[in-house]
Amino acid sequence: MKASILFIYGQLSEHSDGSSGDQSESLTSSAVRNAAEALCAETDTRLDFRLADDGKQILQWLARDSGNFAGVIVSPGGLPRPVTAAGPPPAGREATPQPTPVIEVHPGNGLHAGSGAALSTNESAWGSGFICGFGLDGYLAAIRSIRSQPAVTGKARVRKRKGLKVYVLNGPNLNLLGYREPKIYGNTTLDELGRHCLEAARQLGLELRFLQSNHEGELVEWIQEAIDAAQGIIINAAAYTHTSIAIHDALRAYAGSKIELHISNPRRREPFRHWSYVAAAVDGIVAVLGTAGYGISLQLMAVMLADGSRKSRTQ
Ligand code: DQA
Repeated sequence: MKASILFIYGQLSEHSDGSSGDQSESLTSSAVRNAAEALCAETDTRLDFRLADDGKQILQWLARDSGNFAGVIVSPGGLPRPVTAAGPPPAGREATPQPTPVIEVHPGNGLHAGSGAALSTNESAWGSGFICGFGLDGYLAAIRSIRSQPAVTGKARVRKRKGLKVYVLNGPNLNLLGYREPKIYGNTTLDELGRHCLEAARQLGLELRFLQSNHEGELVEWIQEAIDAAQGIIINAAAYTHTSIAIHDALRAYAGSKIELHISNPRRREPFRHWSYVAAAVDGIVAVLGTAGYGISLQLMAVMLADGSRKSRTQ
């Protein structure tokens, strides 16, 4: 049976809304719709693309219709966020898992860049996924993730380029994946995750270093090493996300492509996790998608590097 995806696109997504950085400048709703339809046609997926005028309408559609779909993509653009009306989730509580995945996508990372307010808006208010900063590719990655497609499909829009190296850096306590709070972080161990990443990278034509450390300085040194050694960094800085100016500074010094990654939804957990020092130093963010976010980040990194649309000091 054909799977169906509901795609709710806030009308204001195509205007400047603070969430649309450089990656969305030329995006219009019809460009997004056309690209989404083309990908869905390739993957035998039915697409219900709707333009929303206000945040309440998005909420209504979510409440009324999401159960009829394999997944929902919400691009709220500049529409007022219904979560404000509903009030924030209780502190320290993980978001209730939703039966239908709802992935919030922002084409730009302008919400997160630069300012002190940046990361208080991090992560999904809506549900089970958050992707920002990748332009059109962020929407396509969301569709692929709903369809549980592997990082690379036959027609994936990735032109492989030789000699591209990516560091995947993992911060403190991620060595305990699989044992540590499995309701939040899942059952996959770090070793298994590393193997999945190596396989995904191989298929994407990327060379990979998959590393973990409990020490802030070691993470800083790997970022510095990557300045000359790698074209991209994907970083789950774990608890250092919320505390480390040193990691922020090192990432700022790194001119290649950079993705912040989280397994869980820090924004829906304790208040001390709401701030990220990493966010303002990266191109985009992938979060709330569980350990599947690693494969999605690699795919997005491969597209960024292949497009050559991003700055990369080492290219
Ligand atoms: C994490 C979220 C952080 O708040 C936490 O300290 C982690 C993991 C995540 O992947 O969800 O260790 O980065």
